[in-house]
Amino acid sequence: MKKIIIALDGYSSCGKSTTAKRVAAQLGYAFIDTGAMYRAVSLYFHEHHISLTNPKEIEKALSEIHISFQFNEHRGASDVYLNGLNVEDEIRKMYISQMVSEVSAITIVRKAMVAQQQKMGKSRGVVMDGRDIGTKVFPDAEVKVFMTADPVIRAERRQLELLQKGEMIDLEEILENLKKRDIIDSTREEGPLVQAEDATLMDTSFMTLEEQVDFVIQLHDAKV
Ligand code: C5P
Repeated sequence: MKKIIIALDGYSSCGKSTTAKRVAAQLGYAFIDTGAMYRAVSLYFHEHHISLTNPKEIEKALSEIHISFQFNEHRGASDVYLNGLNVEDEIRKMYISQMVSEVSAITIVRKAMVAQQQKMGKSRGVVMDGRDIGTKVFPDAEVKVFMTADPVIRAERRQLELLQKGEMIDLEEILENLKKRDIIDSTREEGPLVQAEDATLMDTSFMTLEEQVDFVIQLHDAKV
């Protein structure tokens, strides 16, 4: 069967990664969580005290960063590695969420990540989730879905996710973080979060995970 690219873009905590992971497993496709890549870069910048206003420092740091994914049998998905170290848990923490949108708005950071993502999806057969996959990384993706959901529902989902990892954060703080990231992500110059003209909108506020997966699989099946 023909292998294609499925681009899942949209706001944080709309269920993009969970849906993408399931769709990829069902189709035997690779799943690439591009948010994890920006989070890994943020972690490196944090650990090495990189100034976000110093392009030379950023450029040097980017040349030292190697991001890879490795399948974790236990989770049934790929963990992200930063310079050979598994950082899957660390990058999900709140302090990274608080800096990632500023890091990912930096043009040279985006250029480096987009180039790597394009390489990863070159042979197609991938489900990639992010903000600019259907508009910038793979404008020729055969399936494009733009995911959205009510902000309070998104914040509640995120709170539960963090709680399951042992981080108890106030709902208000999470909601503020999501709103702030939405604004930065949607208004940046390079690769802003916008719905591609040819993307199908999916509001997941009242959808089950199964419904979300079926929705994407049906779009996929119509293309192959
Ligand atoms: O998907 P997730 O919420 O983990 O993404 C974290 C952040 O990474 C987003 O808020 C956004 O700032 C950035 N991002 C991006 N482009 C992507 C994926 C994520 O700018 N393709």
